[in-house]
Amino acid sequence: YEFGAGTGHLATTLLQNLSDGLNHYYIIELSAELAERQRQHILEHTSPEAAAKVIHLTTLPEHFDGIIIGNEVLDAMPVERLIYQDEGFQQIGVSLENDELIEAIRPLAQAELIQTAALYFPPLPSYTSELHPAQYAFIQTLAAKLQRGGMIFIDYGFDAAQYYHPQRKEGTFIGHYRHHTIHDPFFNIGLTDLTAHVNFTDIARAGTESGLDLIGYLPQSYFLLNLGITDLLAQIGSPDSIEYIQAAAAVQKLIHQHEMGELFKVTAFGKDIDIDWTGFSHGDICHKL
Ligand SMILES: C[S@@+](CC[C@H](N)C(=O)[O-])C[C@H]1O[C@@H](n2cnc3c(N)ncnc32)[C@H](O)[C@@H]1O
Repeated sequence: YEFGAGTGHLATTLLQNLSDGLNHYYIIELSAELAERQRQHILEHTSPEAAAKVIHLTTLPEHFDGIIIGNEVLDAMPVERLIYQDEGFQQIGVSLENDELIEAIRPLAQAELIQTAALYFPPLPSYTSELHPAQYAFIQTLAAKLQRGGMIFIDYGFDAAQYYHPQRKEGTFIGHYRHHTIHDPFFNIGLTDLTAHVNFTDIARAGTESGLDLIGYLPQSYFLLNLGITDLLAQIGSPDSIEYIQAAAAVQKLIHQHEMGELFKVTAFGKDIDIDWTGFSHGDICHKL
């Protein structure tokens, strides 16, 4: 079960490599346009047998067994923006003024959010950051529906201590539009990709409080190295071939600490399964959560 398959690249790669061992590859996609793009991409890049295993769903079944994967999906979920002011939390929301959308602030009323904010935010004047109740609820829902299996999430983010570091006083909420960073959330509404980093401490809490086993949490570099990415690279061919050089550059991007290797994290949960999770064999930093 892949959540938010984007352009369908990850689905294609998994289908190409795992298709013999898969019964079905379900994609849960909110965007009809993306679902169509995924179908096309998968049809063009996998065998007809593999493509036939793909089933698009708009909701999850009530109960299921399987493996859930979400790559860069958690960061796309809506967040609550809060600011600490006058020894209390204010919620940063949206209001209408002269037919224009503007940012508006009101006292935070939801008790549960106040409690979570007090747990994570440093009590510094004007400290602004996010909470992720939608992600929390998402993990809880998955945990309730999954009977037996695992969940793997890959995304950019940190543990709570790093996320709510006193120096990160503006939070992580940001927009992206055509490779530009956008600070105005009202710029090109509907086209700008709004995102926030993931608080993996909260994700782990959501999972374990819902009865899941936390399997591991580590930087993407360790996950890929544990799974043998360098052996795969060595199989590409001669180190002076174009194919090797291109693949080496791609591997570098995925594992280098100044690229995606450190900021991107991988976390996994299990339910009623006992398997060897090779990806988490070295470099686990669950103790930081
Ligand atoms: C950046 S793409 C993911 C890339 C893709 N997983 C891959 O590896 O190629 C983000 C995906 O998240 C989905 N998405 C956005 N908001 C969501 C939400 N609130 N709940 C579930 N999926 C969401 C989008 O429709 C899109 O498919």
